[in-house]
Amino acid sequence: MKKHLLSAGDLTRDDAVRVLDTAAELLGVAQRPIKKLPTLRGRTVVNLFFEDSTRTRISFEAAAKRLSADVINFSAKGSSVSKGESLKDTALTLQAMGADAVVIRHHFSGAPHRLAAAGWTNGAVVNAGDGTHEHPTQALLDAFTMRSHLMADAAPEPGAPAGPSGGMGRDLAGKNITIVGDVLHSRVARSNALLLHTLGANVTLVAPPTLLPVGIDTWPVETSYSLDDSLEKADAVMMLRVQHERMNASYFPSAREYSRRYGLDTTRMNRLPDHAIVLHPGPMNRGMEITADVADSGRSVIVEQVTNGVAVRMAVLYLLVGGSTNDEGEA
Ligand code: NCD
Repeated sequence: MKKHLLSAGDLTRDDAVRVLDTAAELLGVAQRPIKKLPTLRGRTVVNLFFEDSTRTRISFEAAAKRLSADVINFSAKGSSVSKGESLKDTALTLQAMGADAVVIRHHFSGAPHRLAAAGWTNGAVVNAGDGTHEHPTQALLDAFTMRSHLMADAAPEPGAPAGPSGGMGRDLAGKNITIVGDVLHSRVARSNALLLHTLGANVTLVAPPTLLPVGIDTWPVETSYSLDDSLEKADAVMMLRVQHERMNASYFPSAREYSRRYGLDTTRMNRLPDHAIVLHPGPMNRGMEITADVADSGRSVIVEQVTNGVAVRMAVLYLLVGGSTNDEGEA
């Protein structure tokens, strides 16, 4: 694996499978009465959040703590950033505290790349969402959730090393994944498109023409304007939040019109194949892109995604910060 996790495109198929296999082993830790491993004892993980977050921030914090790392949580609100301190100065301050990993969420696309490329930290940089660009750990937890439902033999053999060996059922080869909604503003969609393609899945992005980005033809996906046409073959459907806070114009006539054409309701859900699952990265606009009935239905794996998120982030931190020293030993 590369030193940093900035883009889902940084991961080869073997890297991605390795993260997913490691997460599968670590998921067991969450089911124990004592949910802690000593793996990152003495290491420091800094969570640097310049943009609001509930799930992702808590998830990274839980992941780092379950691996026994020291965790420093930094949120821009209430810090010197609101006095105009730059990313560089903030990063240098944190570096002085000896961060082994910096988990960063920022409203500017590219901020994590800048942090990594400029050498403002010696630690591994993990992109926890940058602007409308990427959110690689979300894509990993989504892939993990899909794999556990759609690939029957995905569970690692008991005692098998989490390794890059691959094999049948370890990726998402041949699965049809439909991602629906506000692709234009979604870092989740871009990271998922890249990762799912790497894992061998066929990705279809469904959105109104106004909510597909320029250059979508260069993404490794198919596109469609019709949700109704994309349901019957889908093994998984991922609904995206309509990101009102990033919209500076009117992208569709009305909320009602949007839901009518692009919302997932029970009627549409019933047209999915029996085995198909429904995902949403959260936070949801219930009644807009997804109805409450669907969100709370038996096909919805939305709560499971959150649980899996902790295991996947444990795996990422372990492989980036703690894993390298074990590599040579195990080889
Ligand atoms: C997503 C995000 O922040 O990019 N949420 C998340 O990380 N769970 C998606 C969104 O905000 O709609």
